[in-house]
Amino acid sequence: MKQLQIAAIQTHPEFGAVQANIDTALGLIPTGCDLAVVPELFNTGYQFTSREEALGFAENLTDGEPGPTRSRLAQFAGDTGTTLVAGMAEINGDKLFNSAVLIRPDGSRAVYRKVHLFLDEKSIFTPGDLGFPVFEACGTTIGMMICFDWIFPEAARSLALAGAEVICHPSNLLLPWCQDAMITRCQENMVVAVTSNRVGTENRTGQALTFSGRSQVVSRMGERLAALDKDAVGAASATVEILPQDKLFTPRNDLWGDRRLDMYRDAPDNE
Ligand code: ACM
Repeated sequence: MKQLQIAAIQTHPEFGAVQANIDTALGLIPTGCDLAVVPELFNTGYQFTSREEALGFAENLTDGEPGPTRSRLAQFAGDTGTTLVAGMAEINGDKLFNSAVLIRPDGSRAVYRKVHLFLDEKSIFTPGDLGFPVFEACGTTIGMMICFDWIFPEAARSLALAGAEVICHPSNLLLPWCQDAMITRCQENMVVAVTSNRVGTENRTGQALTFSGRSQVVSRMGERLAALDKDAVGAASATVEILPQDKLFTPRNDLWGDRRLDMYRDAPDNE
């Protein structure tokens, strides 16, 4: 059995203050941490007024010259041995994605692009085009999903079916239900989940958004191993046991083997 020190970092970014936001987030990561997750759009803040404004902050995550955020994350991962998962805007060709980048201490990277865009994100970003892949890092198999992906159980299920042992979930949650729902996502998939949310209010468009905090690390049986409150800035950090990949919910209930694919629907009747 492996043990990993995992932290969900909760920040209060100032819109557009990229260097300061990076400093704050990295400064909250506990020493000796194996895996740290920072929020969605952690370096910029959330409420872009236009696609053009977001483009001004977006960085290339897959190839090409690294931007300031990617460089700082890679430097930090290399210096500390901590694998990072961070949410930020990604430019790829002429497409702008709301992405999460995983950066290992050796500098290698993997990217997830948010599949289910929330509300006005639909006017800013292109929906993710990479599906729900998983990646080997810090001795486990990691999948990523971003914020509103939580409301589609298919997201966590797809990651678990692909072999994720730990789901990293950078978030800018508004609605207060996700943190509890993620307990169920962990139980129904027998995976660990790390939800890293932000706090504070942004009002750059006349529509005030207040973020709901309560970042957490949840075990594969749904125990909250560490959690923050709705206002704190800090780290929810826990030692997490990464158990062998079996899906035995009880000795006679295998979460994968007991599924009845012949009984389920994948679309409403009227489609
Ligand atoms: C969200 O997906 N940022 C609510």
